[in-house]
Amino acid sequence: MRLRQLTGLLLFSLAALAASCVKEVKDVRDIPEKSPIAVESVPYYQKGSLAFDTKESINREKDAAAEAIKRRIEGAGKIDFKIFDPWLPPTDVKSEKLAAALQFLPKDYYGYPDWTSAVQKGIIRPQASLPGKAETATAGQEETFDEDIVFEINDRLMYNVRFPHKVHNFWLSCKVCHPAIFKPKKGANVFSMYDIWDGKFCGRCHGKVAFQPKGYNNCRRCHSSKKKTMGIR
Ligand code: HEC
Ligand code: HEC
Ligand code: HEC
Repeated sequence: MRLRQLTGLLLFSLAALAASCVKEVKDVRDIPEKSPIAVESVPYYQKGSLAFDTKESINREKDAAAEAIKRRIEGAGKIDFKIFDPWLPPTDVKSEKLAAALQFLPKDYYGYPDWTSAVQKGIIRPQASLPGKAETATAGQEETFDEDIVFEINDRLMYNVRFPHKVHNFWLSCKVCHPAIFKPKKGANVFSMYDIWDGKFCGRCHGKVAFQPKGYNNCRRCHSSKKKTMGIR
């Protein structure tokens, strides 16, 4: 009798335990809350930051949201006209619309003269100065520095940026860029793509005298160096 009672009790508690386990899984409220899955795959970047860490991203996102709301309240009524859609390509130009001297030059994807390719193909050979005048610009510059600089891009869908010193040094002397626009030290200049679109750093020339940072095919001229962690994993 006693044994049977004991077994009964044991079976009962086992059943109760099983029931409680099942309940734990079935009740939605008991499932521990997780971060939204999508956050893992959303590329996150912020000025001066190289954080890919999801936790930190979420925290920063929260701070950024609070900051954005604060700014919106403070600046209510003001409209930021600087925002534009960078994917919109530059307006196409037809060859016959260009100055006659430019019409025979190789063109980039949007029909603008491709100066780099014109030089590389030997189509033009600019002189350092007007004939008879003392040479200026890059003349007398002993220094050379032809290294490519790779900017590691904190965005999983963008290639890294390869900055070719050689192409630039052909047209410009070191002091055009150093130290006013860029400190001559890898990683010493903190800026983002928005600064470039805002006409700073690379944007001091690109978008003004050099090809525009607009349109997919122009993005690719700078964002040209493939990296290991591309896409969403
Ligand atoms: C069009 C602009 C431009 C011109 C012209 C230019 N540079 Fe640079 N230079 C850069 C940029 C951009 C960097 C990278 C800075 C960074 O990583 O933040 C750089 C980096 C450097 C570095 C640091 C490299 C390293 O690994 O730390 C040196 C040295 C340098 N440049 C020397 C020169 C010399 C010498 C000339 C002239 C012969 C020159 N640069 C012309 C834009 C330019
Ligand atoms: C002082 C002016 C100036 C600055 C600053 C500058 N560039 Fe340029 N860049 C030029 C000029 C001029 C050309 C050649 C003309 C053209 O291609 O439109 C050029 C060409 C290029 C090319 C074309 C190379 C090719 O093979 O077609 C790349 C890539 C490039 N720049 C990247 C950058 C990046 C990245 C930065 C910022 C880190 C930068 N440039 C800053 C003036 C500048
Ligand atoms: C003139 C060269 C140049 C062109 C053209 C260019 N980029 Fe960039 N981009 C850069 C450089 C340099 C950085 C790195 C800034 C840093 O981290 O210091 C960058 C960074 C970025 C980043 C990383 C986030 C950030 O703000 O730093 C994104 C995203 C980006 N670019 C998107 C684009 C898109 C989209 C286009 C075309 C519409 C484009 N870029 C065209 C040079 C260029």
